[in-house]
Amino acid sequence: MANYNGQSFWVLFLFFNICSVTCFYRSKNSGNTYQENNPDVLLNSFQLIQKYNYYGEEHFVVTKNGYQLKIFRIPKKGPPVLLVHGIGDSSDSWLVLGPQHSLAYLLADTGFDVWLFNARGNRYSKTHIKTLSRRLYWDFSYEEIGSEDMPATIDYILSKTRHSKLTYIGFSQGTTVFFVMCSMLPEYNSLINYAILLAPVAWTKNIKYPFIDFFSRNLNDLISFDKKEKIYEVFPFNKNLNIYHSSVCKVNSPFKLLCQLELYLNFGLKTFTNLLPDRLPVITSHIPAGSSSKTFFHFIQGYGTKRFQRYDYGKEKNREVYASSLPPEYNVSLITIPMTLFVSEVDWFSDTNDVEILRNRLKTVDKYVVINESLQFTHLEFVYGSRVNTIINKPVINILKTLTNI
Ligand SMILES: *[C@@H]1O[C@H](CO)[C@@H](O)[C@H](O)[C@H]1NC(C)=O
Ligand SMILES: *[C@@H]1O[C@H](CO)[C@@H](O)[C@H](O)[C@H]1NC(C)=O
Repeated sequence: MANYNGQSFWVLFLFFNICSVTCFYRSKNSGNTYQENNPDVLLNSFQLIQKYNYYGEEHFVVTKNGYQLKIFRIPKKGPPVLLVHGIGDSSDSWLVLGPQHSLAYLLADTGFDVWLFNARGNRYSKTHIKTLSRRLYWDFSYEEIGSEDMPATIDYILSKTRHSKLTYIGFSQGTTVFFVMCSMLPEYNSLINYAILLAPVAWTKNIKYPFIDFFSRNLNDLISFDKKEKIYEVFPFNKNLNIYHSSVCKVNSPFKLLCQLELYLNFGLKTFTNLLPDRLPVITSHIPAGSSSKTFFHFIQGYGTKRFQRYDYGKEKNREVYASSLPPEYNVSLITIPMTLFVSEVDWFSDTNDVEILRNRLKTVDKYVVINESLQFTHLEFVYGSRVNTIINKPVINILKTLTNI
């Protein structure tokens, strides 16, 4: 291992991540294939809402430190529900399957007032009230999303809707930031009446992603390289690259093997059609949507330290920042919100053993839904799966209906 420098880590990291295997293929002739694609490939969240005859709104939230977030809404008379996307993703994730399968539309059909979050750094939330250097702007991990973006968004929604509480639905990192907020700022517990946590991620020591061990062992080199090369933003939304991504990720694409390989290596997806086949180009044209490198580093740290804790800067700087050489853990026992956890036995990122650690500390788990391994339900399928209606959406809507008598 001694010969690997930061550069090779970074190249590998990029190569094997979100769209890199697929995007590696760039056909000069693929220009014509754009037309064959579903027109939804090119639409942003707002346009996807409008296109299917829902009324959409854009709202701007400013965090206490000046980050500007663009969030979307499908306003209805019912109680507010906030949907929170995963890492490197955006509000698009709740819309790209279209009105028959995506949770945002289905909740709106049921009468809920639907709000779609966008974390700082993704395609919709990339501005700041001040002119910050890139280094300063991108100096955040999931902690700041949970402790700054999320409270600002919740305050905003409650003040707009004049409701005293909202319902929270998060997927993957969208659950991590929930745990961070509710443990660091326990006063926010009283503003959420219920949480649905899809593929919850807190402890990450059992992550099954094939390269996690490699990244974990070489993390310090990777972080130094990243600093030296000033790579602060990772997997930004890039329209052209994402169109290539979607032209390869079609069931009838001659190059679909690349897409299958990407989805297998990154998420363990063996059956291509388990992602909704006619929407696959729409899904893949919307990811990645952008994140900070520090967010990835923070998750990788959790694999090595086996703790769900604040960002580790090394002993010396930790003493400065936290007044202790070890970063403090997030105390999830402080959470008082009733919640349902949905986990799948074959999920690489929300491993059932890790969720067990989490569940032992949580005091208010209302329901715990385990998706049997025989279903081979992988991480992305919680939002993009062809079976999402029966396994996730219908049960979720039923829980929320009983809760609110809507
Ligand atoms: C975490 O919170 C629980 C519940 O309030 C408390 O009993 C416990 O001491 C806290 N743990 C730490 C490490 O602060
Ligand atoms: C899960 O699936 C296996 C087959 O893979 C089956 O033997 C088992 O009974 C199932 N468990 C539950 C709880 O349904």
